[in-house]
Amino acid sequence: MDVLETIKARRSARSFTDQRLEPHIVEAIKEAILHSPSASNAQESHFVIIQDEVRIRHIKRFAQGLSGVPAAVVVLCSNHQEALARGGADSADTLRFINLGVAASVIMLTAQSLGASSCPVRSFHAPSISAITGLPEEVKPELLISLGYADKPPRPKTSKPPKEMISFERYGN
Ligand SMILES: Cc1cc2nc3c(=O)[nH]c(=O)nc-3n(C[C@H](O)[C@H](O)[C@H](O)COP(=O)(O)O)c2cc1C
Repeated sequence: MDVLETIKARRSARSFTDQRLEPHIVEAIKEAILHSPSASNAQESHFVIIQDEVRIRHIKRFAQGLSGVPAAVVVLCSNHQEALARGGADSADTLRFINLGVAASVIMLTAQSLGASSCPVRSFHAPSISAITGLPEEVKPELLISLGYADKPPRPKTSKPPKEMISFERYGN
């Protein structure tokens, strides 16, 4: 699938079939993560890919923003100490979160291009997610991405008028 087509086709899925994620999709997501850029190439992020049904149900209990029962969940984590050591103060304060946002897009678009759906999820109880996934103290969960096969088509996308979001040359043009 062409990149723009993939971007336009991606919509947040909140209800999934019970089909497991095909192994080649998990493999592609792994590769996509490894190719995602990071500021100063600091690579301080960590990603936990969960496919175990029991662990997913456990995560759901502590993630009120996670709807449906996905086939997989990726926990996108940041590491303040490693960001500071490898990327400096700007990475530690801000860029590590931007890096995760970039990686989130890469993960969702890779899934979409291979026929799977996704939803980013920020509403969760971080200490519980850390405990369930065995994160070390310095590694914090910042975003979840649910993955699976949507069981219904998405509602039409509502977007602001382009002029309210995009300017050319100067703000407002
Ligand atoms: C950083 C971030 C956090 C989000 N957190 C949640 C969430 O906790 N629960 C949820 O159902 N959707 C969540 N979403 C999905 C948004 O609601 C969704 O992207 C938005 O409504 C636009 O719809 P679309 O993704 O279908 O284009 C999140 C999206 C982003 C980018």
